[in-house]
Amino acid sequence: MRILGIETSCDETAAAVVEDGRIVRSSVVSSQVDLHARFGGVVPEIASRAHVELITEVIEEALVEGGVEVGELDAVAACHGPGLAGALLVGVSAAKAIALAAEIPYVGVNHLEAHLYAAWLEEPSLEPPLVVLIVSGGHTLVVVMEDHGRYRVAGQTVDDAAGEAFDKVARFLGLGYPGGPEIDRLSITGDATAVRFPRAMPGEVDFSFAGLKTAVVNHVRRSPDDAVGDIAASFQEAVVDQLVNKLFVVADEAGAQTVAIGGGVAANSRLRARVAEQATATGRKAFLPPLDLCTDNGAMIAATAWWRFLADGPTSLHAGIDPNMGLSTYPSARG
Ligand code: KG4
Ligand code: ZN
Repeated sequence: MRILGIETSCDETAAAVVEDGRIVRSSVVSSQVDLHARFGGVVPEIASRAHVELITEVIEEALVEGGVEVGELDAVAACHGPGLAGALLVGVSAAKAIALAAEIPYVGVNHLEAHLYAAWLEEPSLEPPLVVLIVSGGHTLVVVMEDHGRYRVAGQTVDDAAGEAFDKVARFLGLGYPGGPEIDRLSITGDATAVRFPRAMPGEVDFSFAGLKTAVVNHVRRSPDDAVGDIAASFQEAVVDQLVNKLFVVADEAGAQTVAIGGGVAANSRLRARVAEQATATGRKAFLPPLDLCTDNGAMIAATAWWRFLADGPTSLHAGIDPNMGLSTYPSARG
């Protein structure tokens, strides 16, 4: 089954063709980072307009690279939430138009579920149960996936998302946008033990980054001459410590032998190393999707659509978008 997946929930205009939820035929991502960089964050109106301008070209490229005509697609999927309302509408409208014109099913996909399914593109033989840490610019949660379509959110952030903390601290340190990759790069040469920043709520399953962000600001005001690389590395270590700690607390509680990570922050080199290390130390398997499947992309949307379509069939063309959509169990997996 060949599915075209479209992702426009934030600042990436992306489309991909994936076969049977596992084989990526093409994946095209057009980033708007340059458009938003001078504002230090995503500007929703600019994002929506850019999606409108880019979407046709990105879809065409995904089809050409994937070697398929619209008429050969078996379904078309788009991310319908959570995300920016205007941005989501562009991808969903494009998908519905293709569904109508080509007379194929439309499948609405949850962005969080898609980050979770990116692990299947890396490892098609992955079997639930597993515990997944989803860390992006807008979300930080740890999910127990009991089976396909059966989720339990075990912990989530009480304030900022992990990626948001990276972006805000990077901005404060005068680094570029998005801040995560900048801090990641700078940390390689910095000393992660230079400053001991606070680790929020150790041993608990919820996350918090607001206090850490304030601690960085206060430290830099007190010691303005400290090397930026040391501050970046120490901050990154505090974030990663918290993420790894809570992922494995939940894995212990759930008795899970497999862990995975997803979302933009899952591209962080230190997080990847620490998750792999801790998994080995506790006799578990860890799945770390390749970097281009961690950040927003269409392949994860097309992959997720396959699983959801098999379980629950197509989504109604009357269904809209939901900017605040949470991660929920498939209707067919309830009970
Ligand atoms: O999943 P994503 O592409 O978009 C959202 O759904 O939010 O995640 C983007 C976030 C940004 O906050 C960015 O700074 C962060 O992921 N990010 C990273 C790295 N690469 C991207 N954070 C830390 N280290 C990285 N290497
Ligand atoms: Zn995302």
